[in-house]
Amino acid sequence: MTTPQVIAAGQAPGKIILFGEHAVVYGRPAIAAPVFQLQAHARVFADHECIVEAPDIGHRVRVENAPDDNPLARIVRLVCNHLGQPLPAWRVEVRSDIPIASGLGSGAAAAAAIARALLAAFEAEISPEQLSALVYEVERLHHGSPSGVDNTVVVCGRPVWFVRGQPPEPFAAGAPLHLLVADTGVASPTRIAVGDVRAAWQADPGRFEMLFDRVGALVWQARRWIEDGQTAALGEAMNENHTLLNAIGVGSEELDRLCEAARSAGARGAKLSGGGRGGNMIALVEAGARAHVEQALLAAGARQVVATSLLPV
Ligand code: PMV
Repeated sequence: MTTPQVIAAGQAPGKIILFGEHAVVYGRPAIAAPVFQLQAHARVFADHECIVEAPDIGHRVRVENAPDDNPLARIVRLVCNHLGQPLPAWRVEVRSDIPIASGLGSGAAAAAAIARALLAAFEAEISPEQLSALVYEVERLHHGSPSGVDNTVVVCGRPVWFVRGQPPEPFAAGAPLHLLVADTGVASPTRIAVGDVRAAWQADPGRFEMLFDRVGALVWQARRWIEDGQTAALGEAMNENHTLLNAIGVGSEELDRLCEAARSAGARGAKLSGGGRGGNMIALVEAGARAHVEQALLAAGARQVVATSLLPV
């Protein structure tokens, strides 16, 4: 059998939220950054009909008769509609090393990778804003009212200052920031955490608006400290953001255990990242302490630890 020929390919990174998850859904700012060590890759092959498959998770859909809420089929339809093209006789294969339902933007990255591969196969170009808007439509399937931070950062591919409904502001760190991203191994769909926070906010808006305001103030301060390269203050701010996320109700025993292990091993600060309840946490470390903190995270039960850095440009 001959190997099918690749017509085109596309990719997109995972992401972490450094500050401001959940509060960002309610209009407060967030700071997020791509994680290029974790990627989604898509490839387009000639076929007899339009198919999308994610072999890693055993999903295969024929786009023509897939239900409307299938995220793989949705991004293919969105790209074709945007370009005014009929469904092509192509098979799109997406593979990803970003763990699913773990706060690292796996859904947004897979959709962005598929869209990029299709655009390349159609030899079409669209702006990053347009691509981000298409990926946002897929994000809406994952939870009803996403802030838009995931699609923005995986498409933009740079650290961003993000406020819902406003154009993202790329910004740079004043000194290198070294981070470890550790997975609790507990899958936690963002939809559930976001839905629970909404219900709690509706039940007690005063308390939750106050918590979101405190997160918002912290995010503003953190931006200054990132730009000035003040890592000690930044670590403290991460710890505080984690405490506020626990008060918001999206913490978990596993996340606390990993954050504590990182701090005890010398991390400057640690917090959950993304939707919470499980998924990943991030720890800010000095370059020299990285290996020691990584060992401590693994000993405390982390399923995987990935090192990433934000570098001054
Ligand atoms: O869990 P993730 O990677 O989808 O991140 C969700 C971030 C939230 O702020 C909790 C939700 C949102 O829409 O911004």
